[in-house]
Amino acid sequence: MKLESLKDLYVAELQDVYDAETQITKALPKMAKAASTPELQAAFHEHLRQTEQQISRLEQIFSGHGLPARGKTCKGMQGLIEEGQEMMKEKADPSVMDAALISAAQKVEHYEIASYGTLRTFANLLGLQQDVQLLQTTLDEEGNTDKKLTMLAERLVNPDAANEVGGRR
Ligand SMILES: [Fe+2]
Repeated sequence: MKLESLKDLYVAELQDVYDAETQITKALPKMAKAASTPELQAAFHEHLRQTEQQISRLEQIFSGHGLPARGKTCKGMQGLIEEGQEMMKEKADPSVMDAALISAAQKVEHYEIASYGTLRTFANLLGLQQDVQLLQTTLDEEGNTDKKLTMLAERLVNPDAANEVGGRR
């Protein structure tokens, strides 16, 4: 694909985030399984449902431009998910594992926040007001998810867990 205009870049970025979201829908059930607290499991399940809606918003945008909803492998998200999966293979205290899962999930959220923030700005510059609204809705959801994860880390993660396993402070 040639990037001759901002519109071309906009479409390329849409394809990137479309693929990223698809990857996330596959990773979230595994993360929910690896989480030990019901609250964190529920948060991952809720975000999966949200992600499915975010995917349909992207499909709405593609179809508004008469384009097929198509992803282009998002290597950034592949890397983030791979790192998360490596972490899930480690033996860890359940509370430390929850902390690790939250950390992986927040990295994913921040990547998405960057993507949707940029897309929203591009849509604005291109005068695509309908797209702006759809992208802003998703951007707000991602921001809220990020805040919720911070809250869960503060509430659920037991700072003494590491001491019980490693015996150091
Ligand atoms: Fe998302």
